[in-house]
Amino acid sequence: MIDLGIRDRTGRPVTLHPVDDADWRAVADVVPRDDQRDFVPPSAARYLLLSLREQVWQSLAVVAGDEVVGHVMWAWDDEDGCHWVGGMLVDASQQGTGVGRATVLTLARWLLDRPGGHPVRLSVDPANTAARRLYASVGFVELDERVDGEVVAELTTLTV
Ligand SMILES: CC(C)(COP(=O)(O)OP(=O)(O)OC[C@H]1O[C@@H](n2cnc3c(N)ncnc32)[C@H](O)[C@@H]1OP(=O)(O)O)[C@@H](O)C(=O)NCCC(=O)NCCS
Repeated sequence: MIDLGIRDRTGRPVTLHPVDDADWRAVADVVPRDDQRDFVPPSAARYLLLSLREQVWQSLAVVAGDEVVGHVMWAWDDEDGCHWVGGMLVDASQQGTGVGRATVLTLARWLLDRPGGHPVRLSVDPANTAARRLYASVGFVELDERVDGEVVAELTTLTV
């Protein structure tokens, strides 16, 4: 479990857990708002399957208090020497309460603290202004690089 003592705006501790037998159904059922479906799959089930099938990404359940509220995943990329964050999805019913910010801060800090202190990268749809604003606000800098049409952003130091 990754617990860096970061809370959402309602005071709930936000922690990240390997997905296990007890909570995989709740994670699979995490869904975006309908208007966000251009940016992410219809549910986190897709990310769970990707993690299981390809053994590249590590899926994590985002837990606020004792409730599963989202999904996020990370990977190591040998080619660019960076950790990557992906599959960031906060359930529609839980958005706007600081869970997304707590999740990014927790995972990014944990990845930056791993041996080597490698940069953390992610990619985001250019039209996804809410996510781009969130990433920029913690220190991600957008690069002149695209992956599958998405803007690549890199973090070397958290600014919060
Ligand atoms: C992007 C996402 C993860 C943010 O999660 P969240 O829990 O709603 O975000 P928070 O409440 O922590 O807000 C963090 C910041 O996000 C931005 N943000 C969140 N909702 C926003 C909205 N509706 N409009 C504009 N900015 C918004 C703001 O910059 C906000 O900053 P603030 O804390 O100063 O208000 C969430 O909206 C989500 O799951 N979206 C669908 C999936 C997605 O787009 N994932 C990213 C793929 S790269």
